[in-house]
Amino acid sequence: MSAGIKTIFICSNCDAQFPKWSGRCLECGSWGTLNSGVTDAKSEKKEAAKKLGGAIVLDFNSIPDTALARQRTGSEEIDRVLGGGLVPGSLILLSGEPGIGKSTLAAQIAGGLGNKIMTIYVSGEESAGQVKSRLQRLNTDFSQLKFVSETNAEKICSTALKLKPDIVIIDSIQTVYSALIPAEAGSVSQIRAAAVKFLELSKENNIAVILIGHITKDGQVAGPKSLEHIVDTVLYLENENTNNYCLLRATKNRFGSVNELGVLEMTGTGFKEVKNPSRIFLDSGSANISGSAIGCVLEGTRPFMVDLQALVTKTVFGYPQRKASGFDLNRLQVLSSVITKRTKINLTTQDIILNVVGGLRISDPALDLAACAAIISSSLNKTWGRRTVALGEVGLGAEVRNVFKLEMRLKEAERLGFEAAVIPDVEVKGSKLRLMKIKNLDELAEIIK
Ligand code: TYD
Ligand code: MG
Repeated sequence: MSAGIKTIFICSNCDAQFPKWSGRCLECGSWGTLNSGVTDAKSEKKEAAKKLGGAIVLDFNSIPDTALARQRTGSEEIDRVLGGGLVPGSLILLSGEPGIGKSTLAAQIAGGLGNKIMTIYVSGEESAGQVKSRLQRLNTDFSQLKFVSETNAEKICSTALKLKPDIVIIDSIQTVYSALIPAEAGSVSQIRAAAVKFLELSKENNIAVILIGHITKDGQVAGPKSLEHIVDTVLYLENENTNNYCLLRATKNRFGSVNELGVLEMTGTGFKEVKNPSRIFLDSGSANISGSAIGCVLEGTRPFMVDLQALVTKTVFGYPQRKASGFDLNRLQVLSSVITKRTKINLTTQDIILNVVGGLRISDPALDLAACAAIISSSLNKTWGRRTVALGEVGLGAEVRNVFKLEMRLKEAERLGFEAAVIPDVEVKGSKLRLMKIKNLDELAEIIK
């Protein structure tokens, strides 16, 4: 902003600033939302800065130690994603599409914490009766659970200050508004203003606050997304395919790893933990069909076995198609070019479809070899063992490279009853599997033949 301009126009919906008034915000497209505001000219800012005193400086040795006493939520899956439990005084954003189960999950977290922990459930979306019937359905102990039906952020905060709970659940941040901001509830500036209120509430009073935020499929992510830098932890609940399994990920976590994945199953009585997730992602019923190979990915600290299926068919018309679901399409293009160039298999006139069974979205390079095995198997129309796992990253020269934590992945395969493994040519200790070490994709094609 140039030094001369003193009046600016601010959109009350998205906070964009403009030097001129117009009927429609050029940023977010809302009508009639531009209001005039005043900006300090540079010289005034300098004057103001001179008057301010300095900030208080602390020596780290003088700051008392704070042990992160985590509260267990009663569900191992949720605890692991949170980094070992709920941290008191943390601000958590639980996001996901409408209807995915966010309210259910929040209620289960509150119910699972035991009867020493007091929780306030604030709902601007559902009535007390609706929330109660859900809690009854989940068999929650609600002796320590209080219900507040309120959407004014200031009122919610002062209620929380009076009751001094351990946890406040806000369902949802889109329905809450701060009376100090003129914008309507659900707009970006309202969501941010309300979140800052809850941030102060949680940090000053050591209350864990869980904000529920809706994110819709058609890219309407601006609201809750703009909170990600304010909150300590962002949990994302997703359901990628039509079955009942939901995946809980932490996309940001100041108190733990972000790579952990929780697998939950929606039942008639809420979410249940899935103790052995590899079983879901392996296609149990499939007989020996060509074009199917099993790999192992690492999500956080846990290895998962995943089933890959490829279908290679002759291109009938025009340009050969490459389609991938759950697997990176660019990676599939690279791998199919490598196979064509470096092995005797020609894929230039073939359509390729690659599918990750179970709907998991994967970006682990260790799955390259399994993807190549599936493609080669389908193209040669040769089956290859269902009890064999393929692990390795494939380079542009078709060389098979080592992967991160190979031994841990082999151990998981062993535990699930696999018999053999195709792996890169590296030293492996203590594996009972029959190991087939290969240097390049030619050797893989030889094994499949
Ligand atoms: P909900 O938690 O209200 O979703 P969100 O808050 O994310 O909008 O409910 C999600 C869905 O889960 C809903 O369609 C009903 C279903 N559900 C069950 O299948 N079993 C249950 O025990 C509960 C409580 C809900
Ligand atoms: Mg809900």
